[in-house]
Amino acid sequence: MSTLTNGSGPVPADAFAHPSKPHLESNGLSAFENYKRLHEQSIKNPSEFWGSLARDLLTWSKDFDIVRRGSLERGDLSWFLGGELNACYNCVDRHAFATPDKVALIYEADEPEHGRVLTYDDLLREVCQLSYVLKDMGVKKGDTVAIYMPMVPEAIIALLACVRIGAVHSVIFAGFSSDSLRDRINDAKCKVVLTANESKRGGKTHAIKHIVDKALVECPAVTSVLVFKRTESEVQWIPGRDHWWQEAVKKWPAYIAPERMNAEDPLFLLYTSGSTGKPKGVLHSTGGYLVGAAATGKYVFDIHDSDSFFCGGDIGWITGHTYVVYAPLLLGVSTIVFEGSPMYPNPSRYWNIIDKHNVSHFYVAPTALRLLKKSGDQHVTGDRAHLRVLGSVGEPIAPEVWKWYFEVVGKGQAQIVDTYWQTETGSHVIAPLAGATPTKPGAASFPFFGIEPAILDAATGEEIDGANVEGVLAFKQAWPSMARTVWGAHDRYMDTYLRPFKGYYFSRPTQNSQYTGDGASRDKDGFYWIGGRMDDIINVSGHRISTAEIEAALIEDFTVAEAAVVAVQDEITGQASVAFLTLKDHRAVTPEIRDELILQVRRTIGPFAAPRRIYVVDDLPKTRSGKIMRRVLRKILAGEQDQLGDTSTLSDPTVVERIIAAVQAGP
Ligand code: PRX
Repeated sequence: MSTLTNGSGPVPADAFAHPSKPHLESNGLSAFENYKRLHEQSIKNPSEFWGSLARDLLTWSKDFDIVRRGSLERGDLSWFLGGELNACYNCVDRHAFATPDKVALIYEADEPEHGRVLTYDDLLREVCQLSYVLKDMGVKKGDTVAIYMPMVPEAIIALLACVRIGAVHSVIFAGFSSDSLRDRINDAKCKVVLTANESKRGGKTHAIKHIVDKALVECPAVTSVLVFKRTESEVQWIPGRDHWWQEAVKKWPAYIAPERMNAEDPLFLLYTSGSTGKPKGVLHSTGGYLVGAAATGKYVFDIHDSDSFFCGGDIGWITGHTYVVYAPLLLGVSTIVFEGSPMYPNPSRYWNIIDKHNVSHFYVAPTALRLLKKSGDQHVTGDRAHLRVLGSVGEPIAPEVWKWYFEVVGKGQAQIVDTYWQTETGSHVIAPLAGATPTKPGAASFPFFGIEPAILDAATGEEIDGANVEGVLAFKQAWPSMARTVWGAHDRYMDTYLRPFKGYYFSRPTQNSQYTGDGASRDKDGFYWIGGRMDDIINVSGHRISTAEIEAALIEDFTVAEAAVVAVQDEITGQASVAFLTLKDHRAVTPEIRDELILQVRRTIGPFAAPRRIYVVDDLPKTRSGKIMRRVLRKILAGEQDQLGDTSTLSDPTVVERIIAAVQAGP
């Protein structure tokens, strides 16, 4: 198989070079036949299926008594009850005992040629030393620790040290502002924060300790800050509270026993955008999450012992949690920790790393692929001989990008897996299984084991059966790695995911519209295709952000009376946000006000959330009940002002003409 045919049919999975047989190829059946058989079993008898997979993939210090309890209706699911295990033991110790010299982490620093390699033996020692430091700072089983760090090995060590001693990690993406950091630290009542003096990315340095300092002014509960010295720069220091990482770990020995945890004990919190302005702390539990991470690593990516796994995601997002840290380490392979950016020092960076470390699996968001595709094929150098699987995540991958990934990056030798999932699902839910599932450019393909997708009518909530149908996506069965709750807001969890359609997990409705979530269709061959979001969540470069959050940030500025934020398509970032504002006292906008508003969003949420354009108008399109009709704004931005639909409910229909004029005049 060297080039993709004209798209007439699915690409067969057995067309790819494979050093060893895919895990699923057995019993004289093809891997795909086995997938179908096992998927059916997993749906008919989930307890038997997941019970045996959990015992096969993880090491339990005490076996579980019951595989699953509870129901989607009641939102009280728990898995592997009575079982005890430690996540760090499963990720590190058992491999450090069996294969101590095997490489666990390959650190590629922002500067090419810099970095280091840690074996499983090294990793165990460094995790244990940090575990002692955390204990010394007063961290106890069940406490939540905030991690605000660049992509350095210490960030991964931090996650593992937390879970080793039974603490819950809450990683906050180091691009978030001090306000966002403060809210997340306070919501989870963190007492300890792990950070670095500075971070480096794309040749630039960021003063992240300074952001932590600003946040902590309003975090009275925080007593200790551990600072990894990434650069030589001096930082402000609060004696007693701040401690240098490198000095602290030197005081402690190489081994501390892992804490015995119950399968349902919380493993981590990860804050994500919801439909309201307030981010929610999605909680994942130990046993279920780990089973999902290991199972998808093994079957979706078809990871084998000698593989090197390179996920380009940041540990600040779920992709980094599950596929930089947990899945590869649970399976005992090497994982690349990449601190830099795909364009630095040039657009060959990813491909150089892949070739340098004989990477077998590469996993990244389409936004990076769009950027690299645009930079030109001449940068995609190297032989790529070791590459077997190319993953895509976080947003729909357009067929032409899929084909470029396949033909130019993978040279027709590696299988593309477009993986659909969410922070809340913990691990992949719809994705091809490498070496098993035939693929079509742009399709997420088939459900993972135990996942029973349903396509619902957006208006009625009725399930739509059969082929060639589309609607919103929901799931009919629970799976082990689904989030257990929203931290301190279980009712919000129920309202968001489980109450909209009794008996289904819903791919996330918003508070504004009753039936919106991820759009999906099922084609004649049963493949699932994921469309863009149908709600008020924007996907900017694979970062999920709600329009309500950006609006709330803008309204905080004293000049702004009202704000409406909508998404537009963008060639590189997928989507970008555009804000329509009215100013107080009908002020005229000046370049200074505009700059200040952009800064306001950067400060409140983080630079990645800043609106691409801001239009100041004299009024927004509102219904008589005062609800902003964002649909009208979207259509105007798309140049489809002749397709505005029914605008008879607008309280002042003449506003439309004025907004069209404002958009045509430019921001
Ligand atoms: O809209 C879907 C989109 O990303 C959302 C989840 O965002 P987050 O929780 O930040 O997790 C991103 C990484 C898993 C989904 O609701 N999404 C994720 N993967 C895909 C996708 N959209 C289309 N195709 C995908 N493969």
